[in-house]
Amino acid sequence: MSDSSVRIAGWGKYLPQRVVDNHELERMVDTSDDWIRARSGIVERRIAAPEETTCSMAVRAARPALDMAGVEAGELDLIIVATGTPDHPGFPATGSLVQEALGATRAGAFDVGAGCGAFGYGLVIGAQFILTGAQRNVLVVGSDAMSRVIDWRDRTTCVLFGDAAGAVVLRATDRPGGLLSFVLGSDGCGAPKLYVPAGGSKQPASHESVEARAHFLKMDGRDVFRFATRVIPGSILEALDRAGLTTADLDLVIPHQANIRIIEHARKKLELPPERVFTNVDKYGNTSSASIPVALCEALEQGRIVEGDIVAMCAFGAGLCWASAIWKWN
Ligand code: UT7
Repeated sequence: MSDSSVRIAGWGKYLPQRVVDNHELERMVDTSDDWIRARSGIVERRIAAPEETTCSMAVRAARPALDMAGVEAGELDLIIVATGTPDHPGFPATGSLVQEALGATRAGAFDVGAGCGAFGYGLVIGAQFILTGAQRNVLVVGSDAMSRVIDWRDRTTCVLFGDAAGAVVLRATDRPGGLLSFVLGSDGCGAPKLYVPAGGSKQPASHESVEARAHFLKMDGRDVFRFATRVIPGSILEALDRAGLTTADLDLVIPHQANIRIIEHARKKLELPPERVFTNVDKYGNTSSASIPVALCEALEQGRIVEGDIVAMCAFGAGLCWASAIWKWN
């Protein structure tokens, strides 16, 4: 039998050591532990040390994933880094930095930028390289140092995000299952709802842009909230339909961890019991591209996914964009 499927053969995560709880934020901006918990479900988040970067966190998540998969760095065909906070703006790709740090001498490397949806896109892209038969071992990492693009004076955003990385190793396999279906979507009308105004080619860095704090993330939280509550159930139902499945077949949903209220809303819409939706937003906040791979790791560590399970992942974010995928755990 030929290796005609793809499987997630290894996984790893990295959370920076420093824990910042809501009380620490109370001392920085006009907020309260009660407000943050009630409106987002977040209790604490991790913040990268000054010397840590998106690349260094990605490498620390990738190494255990490679070990678990039994893949040497030198056997990797491709490295995809999903991130919105690359080490350098534009180039080089953080993927190339990760490739060098791992010693993945045979691998191609690039970044996928799709806001908090990037890991969802990266996972589907990586799987395609394997499903076409072109490649056998692909590393997909979601890594974001959100603390570097957050305006620590803006209480409407700074309480929501955290830093982390998560990684998976995709391998060709003859075990049936793997990626059953996916839905990728974008609604660029929503671009101004969640963006970093300056530092790109549209508004290069200048004294004025720095003074205007235009290098920090800006978000219209209410509109992004509405978008998210529509797109999670909508895209998961569409992906299930493409796989010939229904919500009754779902063993676990791993949604992007942005806000417990968004997740609860989606869970009710999908008519799923709480135990079939994974959440860890309380511990890490919104870690952007790292959110789904870190949640996947923790779900696996907790034994919440076993062979044969049907798992839905749904990433969404700036763009606005979304990426949902249905996997049969093989
Ligand atoms: O990864 C993808 C992207 N992001 C998301 O998915 C985030 C989506 N949005 C959200 O999660 C929610 O909209 C937020 C958590 C950002 C905000 O929750 P909300 O229930 O939509 O609150 P709101 O924006 O309607 O603000 C309510 C009030 C406002 O005061 P007024 O105008 O009613 O007087 C805000 O100024 O809460 C105020 N507020 C705060 N108060 C204390 C906003 N941020 C804070 C804060 N502490 N940190």
